Amino acid sequence: MIGNFMGKRTSYVKQFISTEEIASIRGFYEKMDPAPSGGPWKSSTVRLGHEGAWDRSLHLDKPGFIPGKMIVDRLQRQFGDFDVYTSSIRYLAAPFAPHSDVISADWLLKKRATGLLPGWKFLIPLAWIDGYNPKTYIFSNPPENNEKLYSEYQHDLPYITNEQDSKNFSIKTILEWEEPGDLLAWEDFQWHCSSNPDGMEYNLTDWRSACKEFISVETMRKS
Ligand SMILES: [Fe+2]
Repeated sequence: MIGNFMGKRTSYVKQFISTEEIASIRGFYEKMDPAPSGGPWKSSTVRLGHEGAWDRSLHLDKPGFIPGKMIVDRLQRQFGDFDVYTSSIRYLAAPFAPHSDVISADWLLKKRATGLLPGWKFLIPLAWIDGYNPKTYIFSNPPENNEKLYSEYQHDLPYITNEQDSKNFSIKTILEWEEPGDLLAWEDFQWHCSSNPDGMEYNLTDWRSACKEFISVETMRKS
């Protein structure tokens, strides 16, 4: 299913990787890096006070059989050739506030200078905790007249402390995570964030208690 809303597309592909592949991928990377790195950081943008995730590298640069390379090949067959600029298995500690994935203006200028164009962002859910219904929100910026505003979805979104920051967004698409192994994708650099259902509590100290685990691949197109 590919939606085309005012230019930039989103996509949801059922069972992009199989249950057996999920098990072998998790096993492979856990053996390679017993503990992920990083973790949540303090954030004054959201009322929760923290954002962020722990990460395990996909080790795409290593020689030999690496499951992440198989995933990238499969993505390129469906979405065309691209360069990967960030990739990992992520363990969500606290939901991300709206952001665009542009690392910095300087970074974008360097990419442009080498002829690269905005590509697709890919998420492949691997697991989430019982009773949780994860979603990824994609926003219009500026807000579209026929779309709900960020402020109307505060029950399911990270509460932004400064109303000045949220007034420019409306809800373009909600990508509900249906099953581990599905693929969520959107054309960059659309603003997006994690859902944050009312009453949800997050574990900020133990990646094993993360509410969701997913592969994240950020790319730029060559043409
Ligand atoms: Fe992101």
